[in-house]
Amino acid sequence: MASSFHRVVVIGSGGRLGAAVARQLRQSGHAVVAFDRKALDLSRPEIVDDRLGPLAFDTVVLTAALTGLDDAEQRPEAAYAINAHGPEQVAAIAHRRGARVIIRQRFRSITSQV
Ligand SMILES: NC(=O)c1ccc[n+]([C@@H]2O[C@H](COP(=O)([O-])OP(=O)(O)OC[C@H]3O[C@@H](n4cnc5c(N)ncnc54)[C@H](OP(=O)(O)O)[C@@H]3O)[C@@H](O)[C@H]2O)c1
Repeated sequence: MASSFHRVVVIGSGGRLGAAVARQLRQSGHAVVAFDRKALDLSRPEIVDDRLGPLAFDTVVLTAALTGLDDAEQRPEAAYAINAHGPEQVAAIAHRRGARVIIRQRFRSITSQV
């Protein structure tokens, strides 16, 4: 991320990566609004809209994920909602705002620059 000031939303701040990213961004002087699962459940589309709707941001970092393979196999619908549909919804909201979105998941890292 360039050294200029950014308003960043971090989704997944209860996890290891999200917590570290939020901390580092704050230390670097950026404005950060961080959501853990309790504050923003990615599997609930209405909550995602409700939480992101009022915010001004230029970047979203999404690290929230259903990370356990066994868990994902046992709960495929939840895995799909959290690891696919949720990020898709967040990306669409960011795109409408002209914000960039950075999604970090185990096997891929996706960055959009609009
Ligand atoms: N850590 C690394 O070094 C690293 C490296 C490369 C890639 N990655 C990838 O980055 C992602 C995050 O890794 P991590 O190590 O930070 O994993 P993590 O510690 O397990 O964090 C994942 C977070 O996602 C949250 N979450 C689960 N379901 C959710 C939902 N429905 N809505 C919102 N949040 C939800 C979890 O909440 P709860 O805590 O409440 O369960 C948890 O805080 C993973 O996809 C991982 O594969 C991590």
